[in-house]
Order: sequence, then structure tokens, then C-alpha cells
Amino acid sequence: MQIADIRDDIDYELISHEELMKRIREVADQVSKDYENRDILLVAALKGAVNTLAVFSQELSLNAPMDFMSLSSYGSGTKSSGQITVREDLTTDVRGRNVLIVEDIIDTGNTLYHLIEYLQKDNPKSVKLCTLFDKPERREKEVPVDWVGFDIPNKFIVGYGLDYAQRYRNLPYIAELAFVEDENEN
Ligand code: IMP
Ligand code: MG
Repeated sequence: MQIADIRDDIDYELISHEELMKRIREVADQVSKDYENRDILLVAALKGAVNTLAVFSQELSLNAPMDFMSLSSYGSGTKSSGQITVREDLTTDVRGRNVLIVEDIIDTGNTLYHLIEYLQKDNPKSVKLCTLFDKPERREKEVPVDWVGFDIPNKFIVGYGLDYAQRYRNLPYIAELAFVEDENEN
């Protein structure tokens, strides 16, 4: 499916590519200041966070190696469940490191809650969380969100890494779909 085709399904653009870039740069500046030249390890969960991580990491003025995990969360419909399974783990030892999780979106908080718990077992020095989008209204589990790009109302959005049934991840902007069915995948 070509991008020219998927744009036909888009109702309207919610956040433009330019707005995304501007906000990611602002958040990265803030993160760079807050860590005060300490080294961090960027951790992202595949696949949704990849677009955000790519731009965000380039805007940081810190030494920021990165590593990836693949998670699956079980759930039905548009909500993730209470549990995650680690499909692919980090290759980096997080012990004593300042871990910064870079996320695309936090919805119920279930995925992040379990990810943080999982990472804490290996005794990192710190674990902090940065997300491009947050839907605070939908929260079921409390997670400490340290930096947020955009607060989003209770809407299903796609683009910039976010998918609907694995589609639309490669849209360079954030959109609402003309139709939304009851489905959502990491
Ligand atoms: P949580 O465990 O409910 O916080 O789920 C987070 C995951 O749900 C994200 O990593 C996304 O994969 C997915 N998700 C939540 N809201 C949206 C959305 O509006 N669009 C696309 N994916 C979403
Ligand atoms: Mg995600």
C-alpha cells in the first residue's frame, strides 16, 4: 500500500509534521538540560516509538546510546491488558545506568507500568519516561511521566509511528481516521 493511498482514509490532519518537529526539539532541549550532561541510555519499545526516537535522539546534546525492546501486550479491542510479554529484550545491561524510556503514546498506562517494573529489576540508577503523546483521561495505572510532547483527548490517532492494524505508521503527521473500529496494536 502506497502512502498516496493511505492518505485517502484520513479525515483530517491533527498535528502537522512541522509542529511535531518543533515540539520534539523543545522536549529534547528540556531533557538535555534536566540531565545536566549525565549520560543516559535511551530505551524504546518497537515499533511505535521508532519515529519519535529517531528525531528526539538527534536533538539531544547528551551522549545517548539507544536500545530496543519488543513487547506484546495482551488485550482486546482498543485497550491493552494488565500484562506484557518481552518478545525481544535489550542487549544492554541497564545496571547503574540512567534509563530514559522514549515512548510514542501512553494510553491506559498498562504497558509502561509493566515495562518500568521489568527494567527496575536490573537495578538501573534511574528510570525516567518521555512520551510524545499522552492521553491522561484514559489512565488506569499510574505511571510517572517526566516529559510530554502533546496531551491528546480521548481519540484514536495514527501517523508518526502510530498504527491502526499496522497501517499509517509512515504518515509524517498525526491524523484522525475517517473510520475507527475496535482495534489497536503495539
Ligand atoms: P497502554 O498500555 O494502554 O498505555 O497502551 C499503549 C499502546 O497502545 C501504545 O504503545 C500504542 O501502541 C497503543 N495506542 C494507544 N492509543 C493509541 C492511538 O490513539 N493510536 C495508536 N495506537 C495507540
Ligand atoms: Mg508503544
